[in-house]
Amino acid sequence: MSLITKKIKGTEDVLPKESFKWQFVEKIMRNEAENYGFKEIRTPVFEHTELFARGVGQTTDVVQKEMYTFDTKGGESVTLRPEGTAGAARAVLEHAVLNDGLPVKVSYFVSCYRYEKPQAGRLREFHQFGLEEYGTADPVADAELICAAQSIFDRLQIKELHLEINSIGCPKCRAEYHKALREYFEKYKDKLCDTCLSRLEKNPMRILDCKSPEDKKIAENAPKVIDYLCEDCNEHFEKVKTYLDGAGVKYIVNPSIVRGLDYYTKTVFEFVTDYIGSQGTVCGGGRYDGLIEELGGQHVPSLGFAMGIERLLMLMDNQGIEIPKSDTCDLYIAGLGDKAKLKAFELIKQIRESGLKGETDVVGRGLRAQMKYADKIGAKFSMVLGDNEIEESKAKIKNMETGEQVEISLTESFAQEFFQVYTQNRNRLIAGV
Ligand code: HAM
Repeated sequence: MSLITKKIKGTEDVLPKESFKWQFVEKIMRNEAENYGFKEIRTPVFEHTELFARGVGQTTDVVQKEMYTFDTKGGESVTLRPEGTAGAARAVLEHAVLNDGLPVKVSYFVSCYRYEKPQAGRLREFHQFGLEEYGTADPVADAELICAAQSIFDRLQIKELHLEINSIGCPKCRAEYHKALREYFEKYKDKLCDTCLSRLEKNPMRILDCKSPEDKKIAENAPKVIDYLCEDCNEHFEKVKTYLDGAGVKYIVNPSIVRGLDYYTKTVFEFVTDYIGSQGTVCGGGRYDGLIEELGGQHVPSLGFAMGIERLLMLMDNQGIEIPKSDTCDLYIAGLGDKAKLKAFELIKQIRESGLKGETDVVGRGLRAQMKYADKIGAKFSMVLGDNEIEESKAKIKNMETGEQVEISLTESFAQEFFQVYTQNRNRLIAGV
């Protein structure tokens, strides 16, 4: 196959027969974000490379190995966003959104790019829905954010998706923890991969999410950050758990969660499942109290999460959760002959203007083929126009399911009359008669 008809490895197309699934989950996410007071933010797909190096962290896998970075013709280094948090924080800072009053709550849908080895649930271009909240250090915000994610999963009727939480402390407790980690990993210096060796001095916590099987094995028995929390971080974590208990959100504490991005502090969490293979983390997030400062702003405690839409849809598919198809056509008007075709064209415009979905022939098919097409697209009603109908300015609307027919006039009130037939039918359906 020639290159121009082949997609790039690790990317996916969403075809018309699948897109309703995306629209359905996106609608629920949007709706839930609004219910929780989040407003949408849209940021560019590429940013200065420096933003991710500083924000996500120099010693992370994402920055060290996975970014799509290139020089522009103007000689600037830019990077396709590997995630949504850094860009949102940059935009909020740049436009002084934090001056509008705290907390600032934003939601987003973003495409992300990571040069990872593609496999089921791991793509090079993937999509995230995320929520970010700036300007609160209160543990109730952590719990509220987790509740928002949980309620999206509940509304999508997802089962067997478990919430795991941990605290990775603040810079104060992290210093102690790093010391303990260095001591531990020093013993395995000759076995660690080169990347992890370089992390040993700079950021030993990053060794814990190395993907090399040998390093993973060594990391299993490394000291756990939760045992090194300062009093403040401990208290924060206890309160988050109390609020989650209060909201009836089930969780387990998993001391091994450290997350793969450097900006996190205190609470971190993941929603994980066994239903989609080895890439089972559907949603990840946590607190990042130092990020805004790292990017040049003031100290603004913040938090957020992102869920991968491809993984979420895969999970729903594997669990047999049916996504309702959107209605494609309320009325199909078939036209026979030039005059009828013109009339059908005018009437279907009226239908669309009235807010209903209408279609007519645009490929020059004969009557039989037009009706076959109406059936194929699942038209609820159909109407056939020929010379007689045009002359009498009347035609029959047929209910495609029951075969019932009703005559309506082809005047300016056409769309209105059709709407009456349409709503009567819908009310009967709802009433079950
Ligand atoms: P993350 O854990 O790197 O966190 O990604 C969040 C979610 O994106 C994952 O749980 C997964 O569902 C999806 N995802 C990540 N990488 C891939 C991939 N290669 N292919 C398919 N799906 C993937 C973040 O990105 C943070 N920005 C989350 C966050 C927001 N933290 C605070 N605010």
